[in-house]
Amino acid sequence: MTFTELPVERANRLINHGPTVLVTSKYQEKANIMTAAWCMPASHKPPMVAVSIGLKRFSHELILQGKEFAINVPNSKLLKEMWCCGTKSGRTKDKFALCGLTPVVGKHIEAPLIGECLGAIECRLESNPLAGDHSIMVGEVLAVWAKPGVFEERLRVEKEEAQTLHHLGGKDFCVPGKIVTI
Ligand SMILES: Cc1cc2nc3c(=O)[nH]c(=O)nc-3n(C[C@H](O)[C@H](O)[C@H](O)COP(=O)(O)O)c2cc1C
Repeated sequence: MTFTELPVERANRLINHGPTVLVTSKYQEKANIMTAAWCMPASHKPPMVAVSIGLKRFSHELILQGKEFAINVPNSKLLKEMWCCGTKSGRTKDKFALCGLTPVVGKHIEAPLIGECLGAIECRLESNPLAGDHSIMVGEVLAVWAKPGVFEERLRVEKEEAQTLHHLGGKDFCVPGKIVTI
């Protein structure tokens, strides 16, 4: 065997570093933001995305009640704000004010988008299968937004302003280094 075996708890660390996102949700008057590294595209037709959210998160409650959410993509300049959204609960606090982010009205959903982010995906909750202590919140994509200049056919991560954050685990993140094209 040419591999070193790792504990099963480390599986996520091999594939953890897709872009870290900020998930927004709203139910009645309460809007919230939470950081999520466990996020992925899930279907082409219809377009769907998915994010894995812990059962104890306040966002879990809000998404099930509001039946919608948005996935917002921060750039590396939002490191502190992203950390704030991922280490504080919105149950008793307004995280937009607490973490210094600006709510922006979306087109299809009540949950706000985040003005400082590179882009955002508005979603209607399609299903929420249970995965252990998390729910996979599967969202049907209703609208997709990107800031001018950061998206041409793909995210232009080679531009500093469009550099996404990728969670390696613990307090470590990486940003895209270089583009390789086949
Ligand atoms: C970098 C980072 C990535 C995270 N990824 C996830 C994730 O994918 N799913 C999840 O349920 N929680 C994740 N968390 C934890 C939540 O963001 C955190 O528990 C947050 O306080 C929940 O907020 P809420 O209770 O207001 O919903 C992450 C936290 C950090 C800092």
